[in-house]
Amino acid sequence: MVAAASGHQLATPPVWFMRQAGRSLPEYRALRAEHTMLASCFDAELITEITLQPVRRHKVDGAILFSDIVVPLKAIGVDLDIVAGRGPVIAEPVRSRAGLAQLRDLEIDDVQPVLDAVRAIRGELDPATALIGFAGAPFTLASYLIEGGPSRNYTHTKAMMYGEPELWHALLDRLAHISGRFLALQIEAGAQMVQLFDSWAGALNRRDYVEFVQPHSRTALSYASEVPRIHFGVGTGELLEEIGRAGATTVGIDFRVDMEDAVRRVGQDYAVQGNLDPAMLFAPWPAIERRVREIVEAGRGARGHIFNLGHGVMPETDPGVLTRVVELVHSLGATA
Ligand code: CP3
Repeated sequence: MVAAASGHQLATPPVWFMRQAGRSLPEYRALRAEHTMLASCFDAELITEITLQPVRRHKVDGAILFSDIVVPLKAIGVDLDIVAGRGPVIAEPVRSRAGLAQLRDLEIDDVQPVLDAVRAIRGELDPATALIGFAGAPFTLASYLIEGGPSRNYTHTKAMMYGEPELWHALLDRLAHISGRFLALQIEAGAQMVQLFDSWAGALNRRDYVEFVQPHSRTALSYASEVPRIHFGVGTGELLEEIGRAGATTVGIDFRVDMEDAVRRVGQDYAVQGNLDPAMLFAPWPAIERRVREIVEAGRGARGHIFNLGHGVMPETDPGVLTRVVELVHSLGATA
């Protein structure tokens, strides 16, 4: 996984799934029944167990730390909650200098249980299985902070971006350092690679992305310069080259882009990750198998390929199908 993310083409692509730890697993639902999402994210034992669940079950090549993009914000005192079926909700949306002033630097003590979990997970994982740390990118975090929760059109976010560019850049710079520090701390504790989630960057055109967002994602990723860095967003087909240029080693491909086109757009400077449509896991197996083979084939044209979904596992997904996809990908050697 680490080699592929660094830009090496392997005979068999490594595989993991975004949201592999979560509601598709009965063992996750059982554990979470007794703890809220946020409480779980600050409990080293729960983080460790939930992170390892999908590795044990699916035999994926990577474990993604069980956490959330808003964990570092909660850790510095932002009043927020993660509401089931909805996502992060912020008590007081940040739309002014005063709101920005409340966002202080992230310190090691703020996320101690997370770092304890990283060490414990590393100790339990087979050395060949990568531990992937992650953080939210400044734009996606800003969208939650400014809107106050999930959004469809990002109206308040874009009003600030176009209308108060100084405040915008100050806010994104602040968030970049918070996210960057969160990545650096996870790496120090044992994460061997990271993924920066700019889930909602696809709401922007290329020019605005480059002007208003990319410099800040670059700042965040600069904190992780010693490890391979995956950079992913949903609906980012128009932004793929720039997603790479923000300082990634691997570009995450959303399921709306054909993998062959993605490899062409990304070029030979970056590895790619992706991109089976998570909804396809509900189709009959022969259709899934055909698409998995096509994606692996297309990935062979890239500088390196990590097999993944093109966004997160949906809660209703049959986990048995995910296990079967892992087995299939692992069976596809270069000559297959
Ligand atoms: O397995 C993994 O991928 C690791 C854990 C992980 C979670 N959140 C756990 C989680 C990761 C990598 C994230 C990142 C995250 N969180 C993103 C970026 C990834 C993406 O999907 O694009 C975003 C946008 C968030 C914000 C967020 N948190 C959303 C949109 C939701 C879903 C709300 C819902 O209930 O549908 C959450 C909650 C969340 N984060 C859950 C999990 C397992 C579900 C909470 C639960 O189990 O009740």
